[in-house]
Amino acid sequence: MAIDPLLRLDGVSKRFAGDVVGLDGVDLDIASGEFLTLLGPSGCGKTTTLRVIAGFESPTAGRVLLDGRDITALRPHERPLNTVFQDYALFPNMTVAENVGFGLSLRRTPKAEQRRRAAEALELVGLADKIGARVQELSGGQRQRVALARAIVCEPRLLLLDEPLSALDAHLREQMQVELKRLQSRLGTTFVMVTHDQTEAMSISDRIVVMNKAKIEQIAEPATLYDRPETAFVARFIGAMNLLRATAEGARENSRPPFSAGGLALDVAADDGAGRLAGTERTICVRPEDLIVCTAGAAGAAPARITSVVFHGRALRLHADLADGQTIIIDAPRQAGASPFSAGDIVHVALRAGANCQALPN
Ligand SMILES: Nc1ncnc2c1ncn2[C@@H]1O[C@H](COP(=O)(O)OP(=O)(O)OP(=O)(O)O)[C@@H](O)[C@H]1O
Ligand SMILES: [Mg+2]
Repeated sequence: MAIDPLLRLDGVSKRFAGDVVGLDGVDLDIASGEFLTLLGPSGCGKTTTLRVIAGFESPTAGRVLLDGRDITALRPHERPLNTVFQDYALFPNMTVAENVGFGLSLRRTPKAEQRRRAAEALELVGLADKIGARVQELSGGQRQRVALARAIVCEPRLLLLDEPLSALDAHLREQMQVELKRLQSRLGTTFVMVTHDQTEAMSISDRIVVMNKAKIEQIAEPATLYDRPETAFVARFIGAMNLLRATAEGARENSRPPFSAGGLALDVAADDGAGRLAGTERTICVRPEDLIVCTAGAAGAAPARITSVVFHGRALRLHADLADGQTIIIDAPRQAGASPFSAGDIVHVALRAGANCQALPN
């Protein structure tokens, strides 16, 4: 993290009428040039965070700093940033070109330059052929892309995007994710994007801020968030995850890993001394793809009864019960032909060699 962030939220809280807590003591540094994503369930405070940064909402406590300068009291148009709103907020009576060029006309940019830059921005979002269309004639996904073009055309230092791809179909969405990332590196603009789609956040972001109930749970790079979630909420929110109550079985030896859940040996990679005392209980995170179905008697394997088999394309997702009653999910690579597994089967399950598995703090 750079020492001097472009933008800093310093202890920001926002209370709405009726004592609704929108944000609760949020500290966040955003580095210049980074692609930062706010990720979390509906109502966790993502839009409120963007609105506080943009100046549409004034915090009840805390400060907003830009380049180290307190901008908490500045009005939205006095801040060097642009916002793509969750509901697009396009001008319905204007053409696509007029919508995109609007910010430039406010700045009294010469007409010819307005037209050129609007056309370029529309080209970037794949809507060059809609330049003369009226907004009412566009689909939801097309409107969303016009809103994006309108925001980038002014070349702001900071671009705030609230669910900018939510109205697009899966295929176009993936294509636009790549475009958005490419655009961001090309412009060198700092992007702060909101999404509740964890796959989108993982594929596009330099860092992800996971929010829950008006607070930040964890800020990390995508791979760190995936491999080393710090809280049970993050572990559950990012991809499928087994959270197993496990007991430490003694000192680590090659043949005797320290944790066991229903007989399944879980060799925790991170060395956090607390879990090493025999008898200690911890919650261990294991990804479904890090569990394998193996032969009975394999080292560290435990029996489990399959309760359901779900087709997941490249893998079969097995839901199963361990001997101690805990439920586990295993992603078994799919072979050609019929599924070798059925509900009711007893299989043996073990941790894949070299798998990453981690104890959450108690
Ligand atoms: N203007 C407002 N007045 C009162 N409460 C509000 C207002 N704006 C937001 N809230 C409340 O603040 C909380 C956070 O809302 P916010 O819009 O930031 O959520 P979000 O994370 O963007 O959710 P979503 O994914 O559904 O868009 C919610 O409980 C919401 O009801
Ligand atoms: Mg929102």
